[in-house]
Amino acid sequence: MFKSKITGIGMYVPERVLTNFDLEKFLDTSDEWITTRTGIKERRIAEEWTKASDLAVNASKIAIQEAGISEKDIDVVIVATSTPDMTFPSTACFLADKLDCNKPMAFDISAACSGFIYGLTLGDTFIKSGKAENVLVVGTEVFSHIIDWSDRTTAVLFGDGAGAVVLSKGNDESDILSTVMKSDGSNWNLLHCPVGEKLRMQGRETFKLAVRNMEVACNKALSKAGIKKEDIKLVIPHQANIRIINALAEKLEIPQEKVYSNIHKYGNTSAASIPIAMYEAYKEGKFERGDYILLTAFGGGLTWGAIVIKF
Ligand code: ACO
Repeated sequence: MFKSKITGIGMYVPERVLTNFDLEKFLDTSDEWITTRTGIKERRIAEEWTKASDLAVNASKIAIQEAGISEKDIDVVIVATSTPDMTFPSTACFLADKLDCNKPMAFDISAACSGFIYGLTLGDTFIKSGKAENVLVVGTEVFSHIIDWSDRTTAVLFGDGAGAVVLSKGNDESDILSTVMKSDGSNWNLLHCPVGEKLRMQGRETFKLAVRNMEVACNKALSKAGIKKEDIKLVIPHQANIRIINALAEKLEIPQEKVYSNIHKYGNTSAASIPIAMYEAYKEGKFERGDYILLTAFGGGLTWGAIVIKF
């Protein structure tokens, strides 16, 4: 079996910043409410005409450059998104074309906020089976396009952005050690967006299930990998709410400083949040080659999971 090594990480967010104070101008809300309930201070918002693939191109180029390969070396492009450019073709096809790849296998994953870790799991399978040498896994979202901007219970939470990693056939210790991916369609109504309509969420219920399910998935992934939680250098959770992240740290009995968050800057960017957080944490020196990291996410579907990586 081959080893899956993350050889490059990239991110991109739109330039336009929407602060909590900006939201106060057209919603019955306050910076104080949003900050204390979610940890979010501001988020990035794409232009109306910007597509998920546009954000993805910029993030992918950085990841590919960091990996030291060419766009032509990519065998598989996997895009996780709930805000695709079109129903079909897939956003992955648009992305591969915009990157000028060499006609790779390209497809999208619909797993809401868990999309990136679902994608990484699939990418790992392609590498481990020897079916691919370089897989581009991208999370990209223009959630601002599916937000009901008159609904204060959801409008304050989300932002736009993209993150990407290149997963390559490795020849050292770096590897994806374990993955645990789950779903529960019976709770679809807690968090959903009918085709052509706007996003709806029952926040309180989602909150409880997010903490509980991520905790279970993390513990399962750790035991599958044979890694003790004390050995994890950094947990990189999906960025939905700072209170969810802190509650998860408490349940896992992992100190908060070992659980990364940049939610104050970007809000919840759904499938993009983990690769964006990975990029920033790596650049900030929070983990390095040889460290064990733990990724975990929860989102609409419901979907959730966890991944243990030796970076
Ligand atoms: N400004 C001011 N007041 C507000 C706002 C707002 N923006 N939004 C809601 N309120 C009010 C509510 O109306 C309610 O008022 P009431 O008590 O008079 O009825 C009060 O604040 C409390 O509302 P709750 O919903 O109970 O607030 P809660 O503390 O649960 O926080 C939140 C809400 C932030 C949505 C939280 O529940 C949460 O983060 N949920 C999980 C989100 C998540 O994990 N989603 C999954 C990933 S996303 C994906 O997959 C696409």
